[in-house]
Amino acid sequence: MKANINGITIAYTNSGTGDALVFIHAFPLSRIMWEPQIAPFSKQYRVITLDLRGHGESDALLWNFTLEDYAKDVYELLRHLNVQHATFIGLSMGGYILFTLYRLFPDVVKALVLADTRAQEDHEEGKAGRLSLAQTAYKEGPTSIADMMIPKLLAPTTIENRKNIVAQVRSMILNNQSSGIIVDLMAMASRPDSTSLLPQISCPTLVMVGENDVATPPSESRYIAQRIPHAQLATISHAGHLSNYEQPEAFNQALESFLSKKNNAHERQINVIQN
Ligand code: MLT
Repeated sequence: MKANINGITIAYTNSGTGDALVFIHAFPLSRIMWEPQIAPFSKQYRVITLDLRGHGESDALLWNFTLEDYAKDVYELLRHLNVQHATFIGLSMGGYILFTLYRLFPDVVKALVLADTRAQEDHEEGKAGRLSLAQTAYKEGPTSIADMMIPKLLAPTTIENRKNIVAQVRSMILNNQSSGIIVDLMAMASRPDSTSLLPQISCPTLVMVGENDVATPPSESRYIAQRIPHAQLATISHAGHLSNYEQPEAFNQALESFLSKKNNAHERQINVIQN
C-alpha cells in the first residue's frame, strides 16, 4: 500500500488486527527485512511495516533531511492509519529513529524494542566513514554499498553458509536509490546523542542484540539496557547485526515473550485498580 505522507509517497504494509506493532528497518534496507516477523505476529497483532523515505518503494528525494523527518513520517503514517498508540520495534538506524520518535511524540509509544542499535552519536571517525560511504554511493551506486555493507550486516557464518539470506539482503540494498542511501548517511551523521534520554524512557523496553553483531556490538545494547529503567535484554545466538533476519525464530520468541509479559503486567495493573 502507499500513502501521501508529509508531501511524499510512503509505502507500507498493514496486516492483522489487535494492538499495533510498528517495525522500523535498518540502513540501507527496506521493510522487506521484517518479512520473518509479519506472518507470525499478524495472527495476534496489527503489524505495520514501512519503507522509510529514501528506501524501497517510498520516494527517495535528495535533500538535507534529518532523522526527525523520518520520525515525523512514521507518526503521520500512524495518524493516517488511525493508530493512536503502538509498540515500536526498530533495528539499528530504526533504533536511532525510535529515540527521535520518543523525544518528539512520547505519547504514541506504548513500548519500545531496540534491536542492534546504539545510543551514542557518531564520533569524528564515524562521521568521516559516513562521508566516504556517501561518496561511494554517489559515484558507484548501491552495488558497491552492498559489497561494503553485507559483511557488517551479517555474521561470518551466515555469509559462508546461507547464500539465500545474503542474496535477499543484497537485493534489498540494490532496490534502494543512491539518493536515499546518501540522505540516510547525512541524517545519521548529524543525529543527536541519545544517552541522556535513556533514563527518561518510562515505557516497557526490550533491548535485543545478535551475539556476533560487529556494527553495534552487544556492549552497546548492555549500555542501553542498563540505563533504561526496568529494560530487559535479550541476546540472540548465532546472529550478527540483522538478528531478526538471521535468526527469526529466536528473535520472534524473545519479542513474543516480551509482548505477552508486558500485556499480562498491564492486565494485572487493571485488576489491582478494579479490586
Ligand atoms: C544500520 O544497520 O542501520 C546501520 O548499521 C546503522 C549505522 O550505520 O549506524
